[in-house]
Amino acid sequence: MSESRTRIAPSILAADFACLGDEVRAVEAAGADWIHVDVMDGHFVPNITIGPPIVKAVRAVTKLPLDVHLMIEAPERYIETFAEAGASTIGVHVETCPHLHRTLAQVREAGARASVAINPGTPVESIREVMTCVDQVLVMTVNPGFGGQKFIDGMTEKISTIRGWIDEGGLSVALEVDGGIDPATISRAARAGADVFVAGTAIFGARDRDYAAAIKSLKRAARS
Ligand code: DX5
Ligand code: ZN
Repeated sequence: MSESRTRIAPSILAADFACLGDEVRAVEAAGADWIHVDVMDGHFVPNITIGPPIVKAVRAVTKLPLDVHLMIEAPERYIETFAEAGASTIGVHVETCPHLHRTLAQVREAGARASVAINPGTPVESIREVMTCVDQVLVMTVNPGFGGQKFIDGMTEKISTIRGWIDEGGLSVALEVDGGIDPATISRAARAGADVFVAGTAIFGARDRDYAAAIKSLKRAARS
């Protein structure tokens, strides 16, 4: 049975870090389903962001699941730490995991949902063998490292392929997209088969900081 409910996961990368607790509470009140946390190490991606202490701090201010996206080399070194900090889902990149199957099993053993993330330039076949060992696939629709980039249109084909694998296999796997999601691109990603949508700029950059209106318009566009 596939998970099909539309879920919106605001990425706190675009939030005001000087008042992060308030920002997280605000998107929760505005109808967010999950909180997406982008962890970057300055090696796998050319940016450095946040680590386990911030996940722990966010865990304390919201009831929403924390979707932790590890854009770091050798993520197996930190899986238990992020799980203990309160991560509900831990996403590792196929590009960083020579022993992908083992690393995903490690995520589940640590008590989190296992998510495999795939970069725009990585062939979809590279995750085929682990489809039965994941709770989620995260398709990058930009090259990871920064918020505010443009959605790469060609990724819809990759999303459709994975949707086909999930449905044909009767798998319970969420299909998440991340990067450049706005009311226009979300409908393309949804039509291709995605059901979880990360959005940073489109939510935290909303006019008048009206997060509820931003989330509502994303949900409406995803369902249309
Ligand atoms: C990019 C991150 C994204 C990013 C999305 O490397 O993984 O989660 O925050 O930001 P927007 O929605 O602004 O593209
Ligand atoms: Zn992300």
